Amino acid sequence: MNTEAIQHVVAPDVDAHNATDWALEVNNLYVSYGKLKVLEGINMSVAKGERQCIIGPNGAGKTTFFNTIAGVVQPTSGAIRLGGQDVSRLMPRQRAHIGVARTFQRTQLFPQLTVMENLLLAIAALETRRFNVFRGAHSYEQSRSHVESHLTHFDLGMAKDRLVGELGYGEQRQIEILMAMIQNPSILLLDEPTAGLAAADGGIVTELLDECSVETTIIMIEHDMDIVFKFASRLSVLSAGAIIADGTVDEVRANATVQNIYLGTQG
Ligand SMILES: Nc1ncnc2c1ncn2[C@@H]1O[C@H](COP(=O)(O)OP(=O)(O)OP(=O)(O)O)[C@@H](O)[C@H]1O
Ligand SMILES: [Mg+2]
Repeated sequence: MNTEAIQHVVAPDVDAHNATDWALEVNNLYVSYGKLKVLEGINMSVAKGERQCIIGPNGAGKTTFFNTIAGVVQPTSGAIRLGGQDVSRLMPRQRAHIGVARTFQRTQLFPQLTVMENLLLAIAALETRRFNVFRGAHSYEQSRSHVESHLTHFDLGMAKDRLVGELGYGEQRQIEILMAMIQNPSILLLDEPTAGLAAADGGIVTELLDECSVETTIIMIEHDMDIVFKFASRLSVLSAGAIIADGTVDEVRANATVQNIYLGTQG
């Protein structure tokens, strides 16, 4: 792919959607793994409550971008602001407390634990005090009943005592999303949440996400264009470490160059 030719076919324009309230502002972000330059000057602003998708070829740097927002990967240079706060120097745990939750390209659950236990751990991960087995029964019961109502709301109440490792892959994907959602994040990063799912299960994922608060900003890396067009309000195309197109879904979709080079050739 000749990325030079399509550089900024849709100019990244932070004012294009007239937002003043940004959930995420990324400025001039560069990331390298040793000598391998992976992200080369990413600028992206995502408004609060936005449903933003990121598409791009394998190896473009999409997961690295998420890892950098979450604080797992340190950039060579550039700044990241969450809800107006510069988090560039904060640890992943601190960013989680500010409201970043995520799901992973490869599911990261505790297969030997039950659905209930996995969700309780998602809640415990956000507690400021150290996990303490002796902590008050009251707060444990509160967490359990919170998980129960969360699962019941999503028609998964019956699964609460099942081992996660015994669930089907589609259900595991759902549980991972519910673990992120129960943290009531201000920004939810989903790395290919429908990867490996049958089309019907992909639909279940978007239905789950429809239940997210309008206050929650969702950024989803996704290869399935049907899901992208159904879910996203805005779309960025990341290729070889650079944002080559950015705008409303219709703007990016209508762009002939992107159509030919990316949408026309990839699923
Ligand atoms: N921890 C790492 N150490 C060294 N190189 C890495 C590391 N993680 C990713 N890379 C490399 O960085 C580049 C970008 O990888 P990344 O996983 O961010 O791409 P991606 O867009 O998410 O791809 P995919 O669509 O396949 O998930 C690739 O060349 C990859 O091999
Ligand atoms: Mg990836």
